[in-house]
Amino acid sequence: MKVIECQHLDIRLGSRLVLSQLDFNIKDNQFIGVFGPNGSGKTTFMKALLGIIPCAIDEIKIFGQPPRKARKHIGYIPQYRDMETFRLKGRDFIATSIRGHKLGLPFLTKQDLHHIDEVLDQVHAKDLADIPLSEMSGGQRQRLLLAQALLGHPKLIIMDEPFGNLDPKWVKIILSLIKELQEQKKLTILLSTHDLNPLMKVMDQVICIGNQKAILGDVDRVMTSDVLTGLYGFPIEVVKTDQHLFVTTAC
Ligand SMILES: Nc1ncnc2c1ncn2[C@@H]1O[C@H](COP(=O)(O)OP(=O)(O)O)[C@@H](O)[C@H]1O
Ligand SMILES: [Mg+2]
Repeated sequence: MKVIECQHLDIRLGSRLVLSQLDFNIKDNQFIGVFGPNGSGKTTFMKALLGIIPCAIDEIKIFGQPPRKARKHIGYIPQYRDMETFRLKGRDFIATSIRGHKLGLPFLTKQDLHHIDEVLDQVHAKDLADIPLSEMSGGQRQRLLLAQALLGHPKLIIMDEPFGNLDPKWVKIILSLIKELQEQKKLTILLSTHDLNPLMKVMDQVICIGNQKAILGDVDRVMTSDVLTGLYGFPIEVVKTDQHLFVTTAC
């Protein structure tokens, strides 16, 4: 099944063309790393997939539909979420976005409460239900964001730089949780990062964004000096070891 179809897709912010002529399809049950330097357009790309940034409807389809119509099948974790001062407890935080709810705490039915407990359990965070977010570590909050993204049984989860504030130990823990959920539920995951190394063992393919373009492919095919030099328009050197990947300017 095709989850994402981009055909000659142009993505604009106002009059500015941020990404041009994207051409690729993404299937179900795929873990895709979205790689690119700061300002390359990772967040913009993700917002276009969600229908937050409007695009021509014949250029982009999610589950065969225009992005806004497919929203109910997508879980989204945005890039910045300052939760330091949130006094809400874990369960209530998740409840704030049940059934696409927008503001404040909704009235919760028995089924809602059951579903909230279910997603808490899926991210192994039942113990966080009654703890205020302000008292949690970054990794614990990330677990809750993931639980929130699982509400409504999505088939696609879009995570925008989820590891920004996490130390390597927590990156590993959260990443193996994401992988476990992806395999169990046959999800497609798009996860953006400016460092692909933690994803090397878990991702199926990578989308590399730069210089207004984006290419999708296997890591071994895309993350090479030649391909990235062509993409960025200046010399890039990629050095690979068994486990790691280093991307640097060649001069
Ligand atoms: N609201 C906006 N209006 C105009 N330009 C923007 C806006 N948001 C981001 N940009 C610009 O669009 C480009 C892509 O940004 P972004 O998608 O945030 O990149 P990334 O997520 O890869 O860091 C950047 O040059 C950024 O400055
Ligand atoms: Mg971004």
